[in-house]
Amino acid sequence: MLELKSSEDQEYIKLKGLIKKNLEFNSEQYKDSHFRRRIDVRMRATGSKNFGEYIQYLNTHKDEYKQLMDTLTVNVTNFFRNPETYAVVEKEVLPIIIKSKSTELRNIRIWSAGCSIGAEAYSIAILLHRILGNSFSRYNIQITGTDIDKDILKRAEEAVYSEIEMKEVPADIRIKYFDHDGKSYHLKNEIKRVTKFRSNDLISGEKLTGFDAIFCRNVTIYFEKHLQESLYMDFYNGLNNGGFFVMGKTETLIGPSKDLFKAFNPRERIYQK
Ligand SMILES: C[S@@+](CC[C@H](N)C(=O)[O-])C[C@H]1O[C@@H](n2cnc3c(N)ncnc32)[C@H](O)[C@@H]1O
Repeated sequence: MLELKSSEDQEYIKLKGLIKKNLEFNSEQYKDSHFRRRIDVRMRATGSKNFGEYIQYLNTHKDEYKQLMDTLTVNVTNFFRNPETYAVVEKEVLPIIIKSKSTELRNIRIWSAGCSIGAEAYSIAILLHRILGNSFSRYNIQITGTDIDKDILKRAEEAVYSEIEMKEVPADIRIKYFDHDGKSYHLKNEIKRVTKFRSNDLISGEKLTGFDAIFCRNVTIYFEKHLQESLYMDFYNGLNNGGFFVMGKTETLIGPSKDLFKAFNPRERIYQK
């Protein structure tokens, strides 16, 4: 049966098409309620009363696409977000990974999926440095940060952070791992050099494999359920045997991977292959 759509619905579909074309951002992957709420933020900010007015605004203000992308992707992050999770990562997860390496094969590969400005990837690198001390340079450590938002990846690569972004970072870590120029904090090269960033869409992009741990935190909450399930399977397949999957504290493991993963520390949302 032919479904008649209101003109507001039609404008919304048109807007989603423009977003896909101009930002390569596929709205179908996200919960509709999330997507509408985020667009609403920009509509209010630009004084647009409906989707039609917002489309017009976008057509006449090309810079608005950048603002919209920032709003759609929700880049909020922190170093050591949920410190209690990172305490388990430092005391249990990373030592198990390090112990599993033989003296000849000292490759450690970790993926921060949906890395935003890099705080998660660098937090892991800092912890590895704290654990390994002088042996840090004897390991071939590769931490990969990926995100769908190309602009945010440039910030991740720069590794320069403001006072506000650093507010949760303990004083000893600030002093040891960052240079302060009076205004911003610059992460030291020793930590930067083990971390690489690249653009990747978790839903439609290349499936990455061969990791000792995958951190995907506070990313999938916005995804439709069936996409969460298949992504968690991708992560299972992307891990080496014995590898760890670390989720966000408000996220829940669902779908077939739930029966495959061992619950290593369910309170901290840490699972093991
Ligand atoms: C809220 S941040 C989380 C950052 C970090 N993982 C944390 O927990 O602090 C979510 C990040 O996921 C990214 N993201 C959203 N959809 C994505 C997708 N389909 N593929 C890759 N990254 C995505 C966003 O651009 C954003 O930087």
